[in-house]
Parts: sequence; structure tokens; C-alpha cells
Amino acid sequence: MDSLEISQDSVKLKLLKKLLISQEYISGETLANDLGISRTAIWKHIEQLRESGYKIEAQPRQGYRLLSRPQQDLSLEEIGLCLKTSWMGHRLIYLSETASTNDVAKQLARQEAAPGTVVLAGHQTHGKGRLGRRWISPPDVNLYFSIVLRPNVSPSKAAVATLVVAVAIVKAIREVAGIPATIKWPNDILCQGRKLVGILTEMSADMDRVHHIVVGIGINCNSDLTSLSNHLLAPATSITLETGTIVARDQLLCCCLEQLEKYYSIWIEQGFASIVDEWKRHSETLGKRIKVLVDDQIVEGTAVDLDQNGNLILNRENEIIRIIAGDVLV
Ligand code: BTN
Repeated sequence: MDSLEISQDSVKLKLLKKLLISQEYISGETLANDLGISRTAIWKHIEQLRESGYKIEAQPRQGYRLLSRPQQDLSLEEIGLCLKTSWMGHRLIYLSETASTNDVAKQLARQEAAPGTVVLAGHQTHGKGRLGRRWISPPDVNLYFSIVLRPNVSPSKAAVATLVVAVAIVKAIREVAGIPATIKWPNDILCQGRKLVGILTEMSADMDRVHHIVVGIGINCNSDLTSLSNHLLAPATSITLETGTIVARDQLLCCCLEQLEKYYSIWIEQGFASIVDEWKRHSETLGKRIKVLVDDQIVEGTAVDLDQNGNLILNRENEIIRIIAGDVLV
């Protein structure tokens, strides 16, 4: 299977940035000197950029000039160009097909991959959902990505990571697609009551220390009704079905990573208490009468609040109960 990698300090990305900001031709010699590589290496990178969809003109004695950027809605180089984070996504591995990006990210995490390493797939053959469910992952239309994180918190505190991620993703979707996405506790993202995003968090920890967390995010971007009808458990939707347009997946991914870096930092530096209000603002669940599957039991009541540990507070016939983990039934 194809595997590509882009890192913020790769020569190819630096070369592309130079071509992008220059209105004029730049000679192979200037590029080679600036980047500290040979002219042959420059030529090889230019060829790779052309294969990725960049139209680059080459003129004898004048050099190279960028004519146009790729047309497809997901380009690794465009992600490298538009990403404005300090560390999140600075190493990004793209696999055209894999069983599950969470499994690849967990393997990398065990091999000491840096926090913020992202594994992105074009297609997952065994995409995983929460509670042992499947995540249907048709090729080249959606986003399937997993991130390695290493929060210096105790395992009990790390449980809110998924809620932090949900806030970041809902903000990114609202910003890029302009649709009224909401969060269903604990961490599904819906639009008009239909599922748009799933988040699967897996943790490796001792009793008192988290080794790593892998957060897997599946966003239904440009899939049609046919592929979504495979989501048997809950009605699903996609950004394209909500807006009638194709969303640029590279732009959406950049925005997700930027929001993730922002909210992850707030969580680590100030605690989840500083994010609770943002979670509540986008909540689909609060104020509603709901049924929650807790272990094998269904608990019914009105969702009245979210506490500072991410627990859902339910009013069950005037008895207040706190739910730590569960699945809100649709
Ligand atoms: C759920 O709603 O049950 C969670 C779905 C999570 C799906 C994503 S897609 C990327 C990552 N890889 C996986 O196998 N699952 C997550």
C-alpha cells in the first residue's frame, strides 16, 4: 500500500513554499543553494510535486515557476502549506489504505512517536468504532485520522480527552463547513440529529501514569447516502449532504489540527474546567430527556449538566445521578 509522509521541516515543503511566494522564475541553482541540496535533488522534488498535482513550468536559463496547485480535495502538500500549528500534525503519515489508523498510530506510539504524530488514511478496511462497532470507511471521500498524544496526567483525568477532542472538532467543522454541528455526550458529533463524526480514544497506561493516548477521528465529509446507509445503528449524514458542496478535506484537517492543539493545550495547562462551558454551548444532549446505556442497563432521565470531570448529570425523577461512561441511545 502507498505510504507518504510529510513533516513541517521537509525539503519538499520548503521548496514548495519558495515557489509559492515567488512571482518570478527561480533558478535551480538558487533553490539548490538556499535549501542546501544539489540541483538534481531539486529536479527530483519538482517531479514529485508535479506528480502530486502541482503545475510547475521549467524554462532553460530562467528556472522554475509555479503555475497552479492541485485540484483534488486532499493533498498532503497543501496540508503542509496551510497547517499553522506549533507541534500538532508536524509529522503526518498518509496511507492510501490500512485496516485502522488507530492501530497504526498505537504501533507508532509504542515505538516512541512524538506527540502530535498523525496517521491519515484514504480508506480503512477495518475501521473501528466505540463498543466494538465498525466504522464504515469508503475510499477517498472522508477523513479517517488518528493522533498520538502523551498527556502528563493520571489515567482517571485522561478520560476527558475525548470531550476535549469533540469540542475542537465541532469548532473546526462549524468554521470550515458553516453547519450547526453539535456534540452528543460523550463525544459523537451530529448535524440536525444525524451522526457526522465518531471519535474513538484508546489509552495505554499504568495505574498512575498515561503512556500514550491515541485519538481516532472519522468525519463524514463527502460521502453520499449509499455509503452512509451502512451506518446501521444511527442515522448518519455528511458535510456534503448538509451543504450540497464538496468540502476541501485538506483544509478541514488543518483546521481540526489547529483547534485540537488549542483545546489540548487549554486542557493540559488549565484543566477541563476551562473547556466545560464550550462543550455545553455545543451540546446536543443537555436539557433533553434521554436514555443512556450504562453497562447493560438503560438509565432514563433528563440531562441537566456536565460536571468538571466530564460526567453527565441526569435528573431521574428528582434523583440526581452522575454518569461516568455510557452511550446515549437515539
Ligand atoms: C464511534 O463513533 O464509534 C467512533 C468511530 C471512530 C472512527 C475513527 S476513523 C479513524 C480512526 N480509526 C478507526 O479505526 N476508528 C477511528
